[in-house]
Amino acid sequence: GDLDELALIKRGALLFAILNPYNSRDHVAAYAAAGVNAFAMEFMPRITRAQVMDVLSSQANLAGYKAVVDAASEYGRAYPMMMTAAGTVPPARAFIMGVGVAGLQAIATAKRLGAIVSATDVRPAVKEQVQSLGGSFVAVENDEFKQAETAGGYAKEMSDDYKRQQAALVAEHIKKQDIVITTALIPGRKAPILVTREHVASMKPGSVIIDLAVEQGGNVEGSELGKVVTTENGVKIVGHANYPSRIAESASLLYAKNLLALLQALHDKEKGITLNWDDEIVKAIAL
Ligand code: NAI
Repeated sequence: GDLDELALIKRGALLFAILNPYNSRDHVAAYAAAGVNAFAMEFMPRITRAQVMDVLSSQANLAGYKAVVDAASEYGRAYPMMMTAAGTVPPARAFIMGVGVAGLQAIATAKRLGAIVSATDVRPAVKEQVQSLGGSFVAVENDEFKQAETAGGYAKEMSDDYKRQQAALVAEHIKKQDIVITTALIPGRKAPILVTREHVASMKPGSVIIDLAVEQGGNVEGSELGKVVTTENGVKIVGHANYPSRIAESASLLYAKNLLALLQALHDKEKGITLNWDDEIVKAIAL
């Protein structure tokens, strides 16, 4: 939000929002100075009780869906194979990089639209998920890969050696792709580069790349925040900001439900909204 609005908030007020704290340290300091108790919804712990309050999931799911639909409209050809009297339209090949919540929805959506879908991730648990959605899995499956998941279920930063091997594997695969959707994030860090300039240069004209990580620094070399860039070899790199806002009604519907569920959990009939500082949720989201 806008720091000017902070002046309108009372001292001691509670602020619950998607606050992007890692990239908005000035804002976090300003809330503290203004005596506002700020809570970052994106720090919601991934425990069963808090699933209904998980904004990263509710918004990423919609972003994954919308990315595939946007890619379809940027792409000058069809997704499904069509055999017609006038000839055969070949199916599009879609490659999803990063298979968290957004990536899983992107796989499912691209599959439903008729693309041939493949996907990659550094977390071994997702291989089966990709396959169960009808996608093929593409990754260097060495020992490092087998341990690349934190207790919270998030990705770890990979070694340079792993990144090199994975980039070589991706180089062969990506040349044949028509649609690439990247969603890879590591909490609290800059997004990893998964698609290099060389990868982009090897792709066919008319191919479309959507970089859902563009706000965290981007997974794709050459992606630009808020822009659709067309490269010299005719590849479109899409870097729209605030992806969930492109499907705003659904995003608001789910975000409102996330906030309501949190307030209900904090609400006490007699005392109103109360903060129990021993509560795992309160501790996790408090800035
Ligand atoms: P995220 O948004 O942090 O990252 C997206 C994906 O990028 C992840 O799958 C991550 O492994 C992948 N990634 C990171 N670095 C990569 C690299 N170098 N190359 C390829 N892929 C890379 O992840 P998200 O969507 O938040 O999901 C994380 C996990 O949490 C998933 O297993 C998800 O199913 C789980 N989850 C659990 C919930 C719960 O309440 N128990 C709720 C929501 C998600």
